[in-house]
Amino acid sequence: MADSWEKLLEDCRSCEACQLSKTRTNCVFGVGNKNADIMFIGEAPGESEDLSGTPFVGRAGQLLDKFLFAVDIDREDVYIANILKCRPPKNRDPLPEEEDCCIDFLRRQLLLIQPKIIVCLGRISAMRLIKPDFKITKEHGIWFKKGNYLITAVYHPALLLRDPRRKEEMLEDMKAIKAKLSELQD
Ligand code: URA
Repeated sequence: MADSWEKLLEDCRSCEACQLSKTRTNCVFGVGNKNADIMFIGEAPGESEDLSGTPFVGRAGQLLDKFLFAVDIDREDVYIANILKCRPPKNRDPLPEEEDCCIDFLRRQLLLIQPKIIVCLGRISAMRLIKPDFKITKEHGIWFKKGNYLITAVYHPALLLRDPRRKEEMLEDMKAIKAKLSELQD
């Protein structure tokens, strides 16, 4: 049977495949344009996201919004999701088995949206979606081709809150992403 957004959302909300389902307030499914050409994929919900049910609404999300605004990408035009749909306690890194349980939801989102570009927000997402030995400091901003997708990674906005000196590199990467998007949309 063909997949649908309704079925996917229902499967995600009722998921009890890993321990994170026991501590979540909300399943943080994803948000944005279901016909987006570009998809941003973070790591896992934090506290604000767990409480609201929407990805990237806390401090890191507000910083992401500033970078989108700076390069003239409208948040309404993109789709934003995470590798994990439930919050790990105390925002610890996702465990490999939690990612394994959850990754099919993201795969189904990608199949429904079919974006042209995927942007990994941070190393956890890049290690899962680009390659396991991805080094964010060396390889951010590099383009990879995976199936039909062009995929790149940028610093996670939460890292930029801790290390603002890296914001200039982030801005350059985001400008290149906007240029690639415009090129593909022409
Ligand atoms: N960090 C993430 O990786 N995802 C969110 O949704 C919020 C913070």
